[in-house]
Amino acid sequence: MDNGNLPKHGNYGCGIDIGGSGVKGAIVDMDTGEFVTDRIKIETPQPATPEAVAETVAHIVQELGWDGRVGICMPTVIKDQVAHLAANIDDSWVGTNVHELFSQHLPGRKIAVLNDADAAGLAEVAFGDEAARTGATLFLTFGTGIGSAFITDGVLFPNTELGHMYVGKKEAEHQASSAVRDREELSYKQWAKRVDKVLKEYERLFNPSFFVVGGGISRKADKWVPYLTVDTPVIPAQLRNRAGIVGAAMAVAKDVTP
Ligand code: BGC
Repeated sequence: MDNGNLPKHGNYGCGIDIGGSGVKGAIVDMDTGEFVTDRIKIETPQPATPEAVAETVAHIVQELGWDGRVGICMPTVIKDQVAHLAANIDDSWVGTNVHELFSQHLPGRKIAVLNDADAAGLAEVAFGDEAARTGATLFLTFGTGIGSAFITDGVLFPNTELGHMYVGKKEAEHQASSAVRDREELSYKQWAKRVDKVLKEYERLFNPSFFVVGGGISRKADKWVPYLTVDTPVIPAQLRNRAGIVGAAMAVAKDVTP
């Protein structure tokens, strides 16, 4: 990859998305939400301890040839810049001051760290389907877990963790994540029935204007969204695997630091 041609005068940002299997980063055009470099992906180190992951993040930023502010998102609650929950990451993150951690590995940079679904939701609302730009949007991402972001007129209410809400006898993400679909070898129709049940519960309690559904599975939206019977309109996410990176870059540019 050659990022030597990165134009010098654009309104750019750097976003990093830390996931269970990969740490991904790119330079983003903040006016369009498009990448201006290739996306760099490095396998998440195992065990995915804070130190090991922070080293990987610093490595990606260096590879991107970027010396400005960095936005980082990850699958955990980030409150006052401390990681609080570790459903799908190493337990050693709990209690880590992520701002301090990443600042040590990227000295002198402005850093913002936020939840991965919150980042992806911010990006989708800004650059995805126009319908979701105004009003109360509930963004959901279906992957290893279920991530959620409440966004009203572009403003985020962070750390909502609706994937861990009980729907019937189980947490939503234990019955309707896309990892569960793979594990139980469910057809799209069977899986959509489970997603529908979860969405109906969210609808009953939160009454959003729209659901925006993302994650890798949003690429196949035509295979399962038509089976949903929930009343609230369901909009497939458009940025797909770009969303976390773009949203993380937006968070540091806009000072969103939950
Ligand atoms: C985590 C959330 C995350 C979601 C999607 C859940 O298990 O608790 O913080 O946003 O997975 O990655």
